[in-house]
Amino acid sequence: MNPYEIIKAKRDGQELDGDAIRRFVQGFTRGEIPDYQAAAWLMAVYFRGMTDRETTDLTLAMVDSGATLDLTGIGGPVVDKHSTGGVGDKTTLVLGPLVAACGLKLLKLSGRGLGHTGGTLDKLEAIPGFRTALDREALVAVVNRAGMAVAGQTADLVPADGKLYALRDVTATVDSVPLIASSIMSKKLAAGAPSIVLDVKTGSGAFVPDLEGARNLARAMVAIGRRAGRRVEAVISDMDQPLGLAAGNALEVAEAIACLAGQGPEDLQELCLTLGSRLMVLAGAAPTHTEARGRLEEAVRSGRALQAFRTFVEAQGGDPRAVDDPARLPRAPIRLAVPAPAGGTVHRLDALAVGQACVVLGAGRRKKGDPVDLAVGVVLHKKVGDPVRPGEPLATVHASHHERAEQAAARVAGAYRLAAGRAPRRPLIHDIVSDG
Ligand code: URA
Repeated sequence: MNPYEIIKAKRDGQELDGDAIRRFVQGFTRGEIPDYQAAAWLMAVYFRGMTDRETTDLTLAMVDSGATLDLTGIGGPVVDKHSTGGVGDKTTLVLGPLVAACGLKLLKLSGRGLGHTGGTLDKLEAIPGFRTALDREALVAVVNRAGMAVAGQTADLVPADGKLYALRDVTATVDSVPLIASSIMSKKLAAGAPSIVLDVKTGSGAFVPDLEGARNLARAMVAIGRRAGRRVEAVISDMDQPLGLAAGNALEVAEAIACLAGQGPEDLQELCLTLGSRLMVLAGAAPTHTEARGRLEEAVRSGRALQAFRTFVEAQGGDPRAVDDPARLPRAPIRLAVPAPAGGTVHRLDALAVGQACVVLGAGRRKKGDPVDLAVGVVLHKKVGDPVRPGEPLATVHASHHERAEQAAARVAGAYRLAAGRAPRRPLIHDIVSDG
């Protein structure tokens, strides 16, 4: 089949064989298939969808477009995690040290924040001296020493994804389950870990806001992982309100440290224990989720999880003193409280609006490549279900400019809905998808 025939077959709803998909991806990545044909094919996929087999073939063809990480030399079960992103999602900073303290090796290639969602690399760079650009040798050395390593993705991994994503971005084909699933999973497969846990968010601050969409995406990614010979599970977690209390890079690092010391917000702690226990069982390091959870809790109680974070920070060039003295993290000069306009109970706290407030403050990027202010963000004092007295602070905005502080405070105020009576409760964990 030539590119025209491959586009036509998908347009007409036919299932493409692996060879056609491979040749199309290869041809596009090498510049032999022009953007207009690839755009037409993407739109055909958008409308016609793909079977699990096609999606897996697409993912594997994308992996084959570049290098893959060679994990030989790592002593211990290598694991990976991915979050579809959200507001206040500092899970990697807690989960990594937790599982490292229990003998797993978490090797993660992360991204930067974009729009209202934060990125792990930005958060880590709030720690003075922390380096996120590591080559393979350095990654392996760090993971062997600290039990975890987090670095930026190198350009030689999955070049097809960068090219396809850029085209999807301008052709209204981003929000397609097989295209998102193959994009995410190609990077996970190229990074090499045999056991992977996916944190698929749902709610206003999530990439896929509706639960059914999140379930479809989770199922598609788990199916790809299984077909590609990896052990993969997806936890569908809530992102209708921010995770934890802090949103903004340095503020989130401080909250992650508190969580590792056993003093974190309950939702963050619960999500990390859930993701961690799934990873422990997937990697064969614990026989049951209950036992895994017990060991993770013990790692916090004994201080080993916090020590694992110190070792990780130091191994990647960061100042470990920041772990015990968060005053060494960047701090914003302006604090502005957001008072409750009336009393009642918090019925809603819109994660998207809080994320947008962070962008106003400069904690997030409007477009790729924008600089971020590591010190600024929002600390929430009230979340859904909490009672509030009139005038009580709902949140505090941490800012570098007065005007931005005022604008962000207005957005944060608008994120809250206060009402009488009991608040409708959303679960933190909506579902766990183990079978694709
Ligand atoms: N994140 C990715 O890496 N790819 C997508 O297509 C969407 C979100």
